[in-house]
Amino acid sequence: MEDLAQRLAAARSVCVLTGSGISAESGLPTFRGVGGLWRDRRVEDLASPRGFARDPHLVWTWYGERRRAHRSVEPSAAHVALAVLEDRIPDFTVVTQNVDSLHLLAGSRNVLELHGKMREAKCTRCDERRPLDDVLDALASGAPDPIAHACGGMWRPDIVWFGEPLPPNVLERAIDAARRAEVMLVVGTSGLVQPAASLATKRYTGAYVVEINPEETALTAHVDRSIRARASDVLPELAV
Ligand code: OAD
Repeated sequence: MEDLAQRLAAARSVCVLTGSGISAESGLPTFRGVGGLWRDRRVEDLASPRGFARDPHLVWTWYGERRRAHRSVEPSAAHVALAVLEDRIPDFTVVTQNVDSLHLLAGSRNVLELHGKMREAKCTRCDERRPLDDVLDALASGAPDPIAHACGGMWRPDIVWFGEPLPPNVLERAIDAARRAEVMLVVGTSGLVQPAASLATKRYTGAYVVEINPEETALTAHVDRSIRARASDVLPELAV
């Protein structure tokens, strides 16, 4: 670990790509691990335009449960360690696939939320936004047609679903951060979802890439070093 700490201390630009494994440390389930199914449904069947068109209320029920879970969890030692590192490194970017806001809650400032955020809802038709909790409150109160928007569209979470493009400005900034980075940490992601995963490959970065994950992943073959450990066993040590 000593050599990695030295590389980080010497680096002017660091990019960290995170996935749901870092939030497992806070008690949230990962997508593909145990608990990765919801009522026997795969995430791809819920987090997709097709899933929403088929049963919008079911999809909102899923997000309602996840939002409640997010509200009751705290950032982990791993999230906090990244916020501490950001204070020391001149150019430090967290690119996250997570929608749980835990990096921001931990104090990270330069956070790119590639897959959106479970804080806001947006209209399917006109792109108006409102707090996600307002929609959940309307659903809970039994209001008539709580997910209908006046323009004729429907309220949906501001989250990138399967089959949808990433917000272009966020993706561009993430690609820039990957290109600039001298060291990249890849933490708690299976590396199965594109284009996020490819940011850690030679296509986008010339950085020294270190994976921190207890399991082998689709990115393992592409990284310079794999540390087979939990995020909270490694990151706090790097931020001492
Ligand atoms: P996955 O569930 O695919 O992968 C979670 C990864 O975290 C696995 O490789 C685990 O081994 C690892 N892991 C588990 N506990 C860990 C710990 N304590 N420390 C470090 N690593 C740990 O989740 P993601 O890669 O985040 O997209 O999934 C990517 C995207 O697929 C998500 O953003 C989501 C999902 O469908 C959307 O919702 C658009």
